[in-house]
Amino acid sequence: MKHFPLGRPARIAVMASGRGSNLDALLKAFPHDNPLGHIVLVISDRREALALQKAVEAQVEAEYVPWPRNRTQGAAGTTGRFQFEQVAGQLLRDHHIDLILLAGFMRLLSPEFVQAWEGRILNIHPSLLPQFPGLFAQRQALEAGVSETGCTVHFVDAGMDTGPIVLQRRVPVLPGDTVETLTERILEQEHLAYPEAVRMVLRGEV
Ligand code: GRF
Repeated sequence: MKHFPLGRPARIAVMASGRGSNLDALLKAFPHDNPLGHIVLVISDRREALALQKAVEAQVEAEYVPWPRNRTQGAAGTTGRFQFEQVAGQLLRDHHIDLILLAGFMRLLSPEFVQAWEGRILNIHPSLLPQFPGLFAQRQALEAGVSETGCTVHFVDAGMDTGPIVLQRRVPVLPGDTVETLTERILEQEHLAYPEAVRMVLRGEV
């Protein structure tokens, strides 16, 4: 199903768990007067996430939605994920969200949630997928000894970092690189790649 272009500014939600540097780049690229779309809601599963503060500073609604730790994982209705998705899903509906951007959101959403948002949920990952999915992608790249890595913006499906790719940007791995230097180099490209990928999606180019 083709969701975009909408013919009106898209209402965008960002989900983030951490420092929110991609959120920053997205807030700059999609302010309230961008005719293509603007960020109207930021959701975090971590109360202390810097991303929530950044949203407040940008005068965007910021919501902490807990992902409770639960000993009785398994049965639907009892897991932290289920509780998170109930509350987040309601917020997304209440705000008439058209597109969800995961930006350093450190949780795996359920197949049901992802399917309900199919074609309308993106993620950014710090590697050239399908290489180095999952956690610590920069360390994985260093340990693999590759000469090039980068970042990927992709549609989210039920897998971990597996959905259709929208765009990638590449960076060299340099002699003497550490996880920190490589992370920094990739992050610069992420901040360009994510807004560009969102523009492509909202214009209906992918
Ligand atoms: C980024 O490296 C992103 O690719 C990954 O998590 C990190 C989030 O960084 N999914 P930030 O919170 O946007 O600064």
